Amino acid sequence: MTAPAPAFNPGSPEFLEDPYPFYKMGQAIGPIWVEQPGIWLAFGYDEITAILKDHATWSSGGGAMDAIPEDAPPPGMLFSDPPRHTRLRSLVSQAFTPRMIEQLEPRIAAIADELVSAMAQKSACDLVEELAYPLPVIVIAEILGVPAEDRAMFKKWSDEVVSTLGGGFDGQAGQVPDATFEAMREYFTRMADARRAEPRADLISGLVRAEIDGARLSFDELLQMLVLLLVAGNETTTNLIGNAVLALMEHPDQLHRIYNDPSLLPSAIEEVLRFSSPVQATARVAMRDTEVSGRTVRAGQQAVTWLAAANRDARAFPDPDTFDVGRAPNRHLAFGLGIHFCLGAPLARMEARIALGAFLAHIQRFRRADDGPLPRVPTFIMRGVRSLPITYRGR
Ligand code: HEM
Repeated sequence: MTAPAPAFNPGSPEFLEDPYPFYKMGQAIGPIWVEQPGIWLAFGYDEITAILKDHATWSSGGGAMDAIPEDAPPPGMLFSDPPRHTRLRSLVSQAFTPRMIEQLEPRIAAIADELVSAMAQKSACDLVEELAYPLPVIVIAEILGVPAEDRAMFKKWSDEVVSTLGGGFDGQAGQVPDATFEAMREYFTRMADARRAEPRADLISGLVRAEIDGARLSFDELLQMLVLLLVAGNETTTNLIGNAVLALMEHPDQLHRIYNDPSLLPSAIEEVLRFSSPVQATARVAMRDTEVSGRTVRAGQQAVTWLAAANRDARAFPDPDTFDVGRAPNRHLAFGLGIHFCLGAPLARMEARIALGAFLAHIQRFRRADDGPLPRVPTFIMRGVRSLPITYRGR
């Protein structure tokens, strides 16, 4: 039986403000159903898990490799399937290692402390502007090896790259304006050449050095990887930090649990990821006819997998709409699953933990400066606020 399509409009302001009633509505219709010819919407935890795990059936590129004109650049890692994906992921993983992330901890703590100390001198600020936004940009600039004097320019590029994130699923993330792309290209060409000649302990050195079976990243692949790291890493981590502070203000009982037991901080961050997922959805294309929950999906059809809906699926999480900073187990899908599982998850978790820890240590009695609706990140793929004015007492 085909259910009638309801008014499921992810582009509406109501959806951006609060998508969760829409997900409930979607789940009430079924864990997966057709929205319009050829496009399936998946809301169930088990269904989405099955789709994301089965990358042989469900393509991230939609077979795009075959359709791409010869002169167009090949898709980046996020939109590639094996074997191309395997190669790109292995190369970048050689440089972007858990050990490299771990070693960043003291430096991230110093940056967070500096940002929060500046906030503590005042009694009101925009949390996004002062902490959630600058922290990930500074960190990724340092990871890449961009010197401090170039940071303002790098931040401008990063903003432009992030602002190209559209509201749809069909485009490649980040169709960067030509002039910006050229400027980045020139800058990183120089940097890559310099690191080739004289490697340092930064990610660009690692990326130019990484090789598999004698093959390295081509320069275009390197550049594409840098753009992906900016798009995938900055806005998402900003939104995680903003969503965390917002959730704690909206659930003072949970904030007190953390004050009483700071060891809850890591699990509180997992709960923010589940409850208010910075990436709400991703998409796949079926490469052959297949079945999901008894429904037949035809080759070439698309499935939008609503990660944020899966994270509120009552079949997977008891009391899914309760924000519980001690929730365990908490196997949310906020970072995806399978071969495309977020490469930056350890970094994002560490940044959020350090940022929130510094914030809670220095900022007391924080509350929203006003009760009005907050400016939302204007795409349903992401959940976050563009600004979060707060008042507080610094210490
Ligand atoms: C809270 C922060 C973040 C969230 C919620 C998040 C979420 C995700 C999700 C859901 C995917 C999988 C998409 C799919 O399967 O289609 C993904 C992939 C990816 N993420 Fe993240 N991400 C975050 C932070 C970061 C950071 C900090 C970086 C790096 C600096 C990063 C780099 C990547 C990359 C490179 C991929 C592609 C992996 C692949 O295709 O194999 N992410 N992320």
